[in-house]
Amino acid sequence: MRFEGRTALVTGGASGIGAATARRLAAEGARVAIGDVNEEGARAVAGELDGFGCKLDVTDTGSVRAAVAAIGDRLGEVDVLVNNAGTDLFSYFVNTDEGMWDFVLGVNLRGVLAVTHAVLPGMQERRAGSIVNVSSEAGRVGSQGSSIYSAAKAGVIGFTKAIARESARYRVRCNAVAPGPIETPLLNAAPELLGELGERLKQGMVNQTVMRRSGEPEEVAAAIAFLASEDASYVTGQTLNVSGGLSMW
Ligand SMILES: NC(=O)c1ccc[n+]([C@@H]2O[C@H](COP(=O)([O-])OP(=O)(O)OC[C@H]3O[C@@H](n4cnc5c(N)ncnc54)[C@H](O)[C@@H]3O)[C@@H](O)[C@H]2O)c1
Repeated sequence: MRFEGRTALVTGGASGIGAATARRLAAEGARVAIGDVNEEGARAVAGELDGFGCKLDVTDTGSVRAAVAAIGDRLGEVDVLVNNAGTDLFSYFVNTDEGMWDFVLGVNLRGVLAVTHAVLPGMQERRAGSIVNVSSEAGRVGSQGSSIYSAAKAGVIGFTKAIARESARYRVRCNAVAPGPIETPLLNAAPELLGELGERLKQGMVNQTVMRRSGEPEEVAAAIAFLASEDASYVTGQTLNVSGGLSMW
């Protein structure tokens, strides 16, 4: 049981990769908190795991602070933070506007900063902790129809490295995963929003993988659990592609 006695916070844990990660960490002994803008979904998944689900909107620092305080009261201070909450609007850049830039950067990049800012000081003080940020292959290779999202996810990779450098002396590690196309509501939002074009964008990503298939949320959860655990005790500042070989650097 790699997470026995540990408290883990998974943002965006009501669905997809976050829900699979929450289940995996709980199965390995963690007390799991799920913070999601979808409060009902967070409570539902947490209920399965004897964990704690609450409203946490990563774009609202007040909501983040309140959720982190409530989690501390209910489950103890956060030892493992998985910054997983994310979203996309899928649009070619020429068709986007400032509101879309702020929204997509707000959730996918600023949201990671906000939650880390609320949790990291405690980890540093206690001289223990592990953070895993959910980036994306989009942040490495760029994704058509997801330019702002790609920018945000590349930002998450840079942020991960900087936090790893700043926190090593406090025995806090920080890593990232870069998933490829994973079967979740987010991936399937492109076909739903854009119809045939969205289907082509999704299929284009699948075709870029050397395994020629999409991945399952549990396959990403396993990589997140590894990086979060002591099995990765000498690993920090890294971004692990979980993408069927979509990119290899
Ligand atoms: N599915 C993929 O193909 C894929 C690929 C690469 C990276 N990712 C990343 O994986 C992560 C999880 O995505 P998923 O595919 O499981 O999608 P998903 O839509 O199934 O889950 C995303 C979760 O984030 C929550 N969320 C959205 N905005 C939020 C906010 N402001 N505050 C708190 N929670 C919020 C949603 O309510 C939802 O529960 C995201 O960061 C996403 O960018 C996904």
